[in-house]
Amino acid sequence: MDSADQREDMMDLARRALAHCLNQTTDTTETIMTMPIEAYTDEKRYQAERNRIFSSLPIAGALSIELPRPGNYKTISILEKPLLLVRGDDGKARAFLNVCRHRGARICEAEEGVVKKFSCPYHSWVYDLQGNLTSRYAANTFGDLDHSSLGLTPLGCEEEAGIIWLTLDSSEQIDMKKWLGGMHEKLASLDLGNWHLFKKRELEGPGWKVTMDGYLEIYHHNTVHGRTVGQHTIGNLLVLDTHGPHQRLTLGRKSLKSLETLPEEDWEPLEHIRLVHNCFPNLSISGILGDHCLVSLVFPGPTADITRTIQYTLASDVPETETELEAAENFSAMVLQAVQDEDYRLGLLIQDGIKAGANTQFLYGKNEPAVQNYHRWIDHFMRQEKDFSWDLAADQG
Ligand code: FES
Ligand SMILES: [Fe+2]
Repeated sequence: MDSADQREDMMDLARRALAHCLNQTTDTTETIMTMPIEAYTDEKRYQAERNRIFSSLPIAGALSIELPRPGNYKTISILEKPLLLVRGDDGKARAFLNVCRHRGARICEAEEGVVKKFSCPYHSWVYDLQGNLTSRYAANTFGDLDHSSLGLTPLGCEEEAGIIWLTLDSSEQIDMKKWLGGMHEKLASLDLGNWHLFKKRELEGPGWKVTMDGYLEIYHHNTVHGRTVGQHTIGNLLVLDTHGPHQRLTLGRKSLKSLETLPEEDWEPLEHIRLVHNCFPNLSISGILGDHCLVSLVFPGPTADITRTIQYTLASDVPETETELEAAENFSAMVLQAVQDEDYRLGLLIQDGIKAGANTQFLYGKNEPAVQNYHRWIDHFMRQEKDFSWDLAADQG
């Protein structure tokens, strides 16, 4: 999208949001949707969904800016699999199982760093940045081996729009443009690869669906976030664009109504709306205040009632002055409070409520269209064996 198209896209969102603001409406579906509570509790179903949705579809695994140069690596465990992500000498990001091919030792235990090669801590087999086995300690005493078949085990890994995407159960190349569809250009326009990583933290949260439901609706913003992010936005006002399973949520800022009396040529739409980009199944990017943004990667835990979130706060530039540093700190503290002390605290209580057996089903209102869409796509993929494409006719961006 060129900059004129981008402006028109934002203008259109501001128009749609303003209309809702003036009419006190929001984007809605035709009907309330119900979901049997087993979708949240049944461990067998959870394991099947975890395998299908998180192992065989592409998921967001890391940010490109975490691996800025060749030799930069990070380790992470996803679905209890130890992974090693590294940028090779050729500049390409790759993902491997962080497991030595000799006898299974963890190749790299540090969380992140920069190296020229990886040397296994058990018997010093050495791998290069592309995962090739390049040498073995005392190889003449060990015996001959074909190194070409003993490189680190690769996973599907593709870098697109500033995100490193992974598939955990295959090493096949992922066609991310196909997977993202119309969401691709929206994501690319965020230019995430050029932001500065200000803070990274890990949060324990409620189950996968309880967690994601919270990222996908605005209905709770006034009540839950009145003292944090809700101060800046209008509760229960949502403009939704769906691209198959991926969704862009637009919220109105408190100043939105001021556009009513302003000629359109004077509008600065981004000052009056806030965007949340949600890529199925586990990525949420939320531009909350102009120069700062929150990126959340949600990973399902071993059981249905727990998740781990990698939460990043980004600044558009490296904060240098005291004022810039303070602004970045304030933003980071606010989103931590909003997510950990508000959303996740509430979500963990929901988990207790689910166990207590009060609900046989959950309800997704007409005003929660993104939650409805998310759950429909879970069902869609569970009905499909292997394919990760989705019907482009469903793209309503
Ligand atoms: S297990 Fe890695 S060198 Fe032996
Ligand atoms: Fe929330």
